[in-house]
Amino acid sequence: MSGFSAGWLALREPADQAARNPELLASLEAIFSGRKSLSIVDLGCGTGSNLRACAARLAPFQRWTLVDHDPALLAAARETLSRWADSGKPSGEELRLRRDGKQIAVRFRQADLATELAPILDGSPDLVTAAALFDLVSPVWLEKFAAEVSRHQAVLYTALTYDGTERWTPVHAADQDVIAAFHAHQSTDKGFGPAAGPRATAILEAAFRAVGYEVRSGPSPWRLGPESSALIRELAEGGARAARETGLIPEASIRAWLEARREAAACEIGHLDLLARPAR
Ligand SMILES: C[S@@+](CC[C@H](N)C(=O)[O-])C[C@H]1O[C@@H](n2cnc3c(N)ncnc32)[C@H](O)[C@@H]1O
Repeated sequence: MSGFSAGWLALREPADQAARNPELLASLEAIFSGRKSLSIVDLGCGTGSNLRACAARLAPFQRWTLVDHDPALLAAARETLSRWADSGKPSGEELRLRRDGKQIAVRFRQADLATELAPILDGSPDLVTAAALFDLVSPVWLEKFAAEVSRHQAVLYTALTYDGTERWTPVHAADQDVIAAFHAHQSTDKGFGPAAGPRATAILEAAFRAVGYEVRSGPSPWRLGPESSALIRELAEGGARAARETGLIPEASIRAWLEARREAAACEIGHLDLLARPAR
């Protein structure tokens, strides 16, 4: 349904966790320090990687709503989180987990963010968060999102938004062409209108400043070497698939690039994280 498999999300999770910008994570922790409980909405949750990355930084009692349009990913999230927790049990619609001294209640909500954002935020969460989502959405949606989050005066923390930079080692003659085609593919419609792609963080930053928020962003690149060869291979496959779909590059060039890139020694993929809070 969404084009993101649980297998792909599991493959990227360790790289995502290692890449998150540590200063912004520390600032997120500081904003809510002293709070006993928090309500949090995670948009485009996949299998719950964002919860697993943030829970240790947040209050002793956490109520999470995990939102995705893909029911298979929501089912995988329920399973993955149950395995991740020190202990846990379902309670009605909720999953009640304990992990490292935190009590975490999780609800799962199947919804389309393109059309159902306002009702999703109706409960006025303290924190709205999302990982690896915003490059998929449109600039218009980002403006509406900022207005909606600010209506609730919620904090926004987002991680791992693709920023358009890629460095592959060793270099290949088709790198620039394939990356340009990948960027063209990035701005195609992913269900929200033409996507913001690598411009998403800049648009988000301006939109949140315009509604009176203090905003900080910071880099969270994947720096992948031989220990991440499976992820490098999947990135190469995904890049080639996207480039092929644009029709901008001869098939022979894509094939030659893919053959070399499957075995690339290293690559760096740029992301940005962002933290926005109502001005004090
Ligand atoms: C790149 S994945 C990131 C998943 C997760 N946040 C993570 O970091 O592993 C993007 C997620 O957004 C979800 N998504 C995409 N379009 C959506 C929409 N219109 N409504 C709700 N979820 C959507 C996908 O199903 C997928 O789980």
